[in-house]
Amino acid sequence: MQATVPAGLDRKEAEVYERLDPDRLPKHIAIIMDGNGRWARRRHLPRIAGHRAGVASVRSTVETASRVGIPALTLYAFSEENWKKRPKSEVDFLMGLLCRYLKAEVPTLNKNNIRLEYIGRQQELPPLVQEKMQWAREATGHNTGMLLTLALNYSARSELVDAFRSMVEAAANNGGLQHLKIDEEAVAQNLYTRHLPDPDLVIRTSGEMRLSNFLLWQLAYAEIYVTPTLWPEFRGVHLLEGIAEYQKRERRYGGLTDSLSHNSNHSKMDRS
Ligand code: FPP
Repeated sequence: MQATVPAGLDRKEAEVYERLDPDRLPKHIAIIMDGNGRWARRRHLPRIAGHRAGVASVRSTVETASRVGIPALTLYAFSEENWKKRPKSEVDFLMGLLCRYLKAEVPTLNKNNIRLEYIGRQQELPPLVQEKMQWAREATGHNTGMLLTLALNYSARSELVDAFRSMVEAAANNGGLQHLKIDEEAVAQNLYTRHLPDPDLVIRTSGEMRLSNFLLWQLAYAEIYVTPTLWPEFRGVHLLEGIAEYQKRERRYGGLTDSLSHNSNHSKMDRS
C-alpha cells in the first residue's frame, strides 16, 4: 500500500517513507547510540564535542519516529559501565548535557505529544539529575503519543538481577517463598520495561556488532540493523532506512516460513 507522507518529514525522509508499508511499522524501536567519540576524534575535537553533537541526532530521530507514528522508541543514552568506567569529567559532562536536554526539550516533547520514561538504576544518579528527570517525566506524563524511554545508568544484567530480587521480595512479603512463581511472564512483568512491548527492531550506529548489555531479555526476537553511520551524523532519514531494512526481513520467531509451514498462526511480519 502506498504511504501518505506524514506532515513534517523533509524531502529525503519523504523519499524513504514512500517505500515503507505504514501497516508494518515496528511498534517499538530501540537504538544503541554509538560513535560520538570517534566522530569527535576524526575532527580533532574532545570526546565531549561528540556527545554535544549527538543531541541534534537525538532530536531528529525522536521527532521523525513520532511523526511517522512509531508507538515506542528507547534510546541507550548511557550504560552502567559508561557511568562507572569513564573519566569523571566525561560523566559529569554527560549528566549536564542530559539536564540541559531535558530542560530544552520538554516543550517540543509536549508539542509532539511524546511521553518520557526512563529505565536503569536511576537511584544511583546524582540527586539533581534525578530531580530533573522526574520533572521532565511529570511534565510530559499527560501525553498520549509516542513513548520515549531513555536508558540511563542501564545494564541488562542488573535489570535481570533487580527483577529476580523483586520477585523474591514480593513472594516473601506475600506469604513466603513457597509462593514464588517464576516463569517468562513473571520475569517480563518485573523488568524495568514492563510497560513496553519487546522491541521489533534494534539499531546500532557506528558499525559495532554488539548488544553491549542492552535489553538482553527483550531483544530475544528483535531484528538487528547495524549502520556504519556515527551517532552524531544519524538523522531521521537513517531511522527510516533502518525501518525499510526491517520491512525486508522475514520474522519467524523460531518457526518456519509461511511457505514451509502448513499451520502458521501469524503472517510473516505481524506479531500481534
Ligand atoms: C556512545 O558513544 C555514546 C554515549 C556513551 C553517550 C550518548 C549520549 C548522547 C547521544 C548525547 C546525549 C543524549 C541525551 C539523551 C541527551 P561513545 O562515546 O562510546 O563513542 P565511541 O565508541 O566512538 O568512543
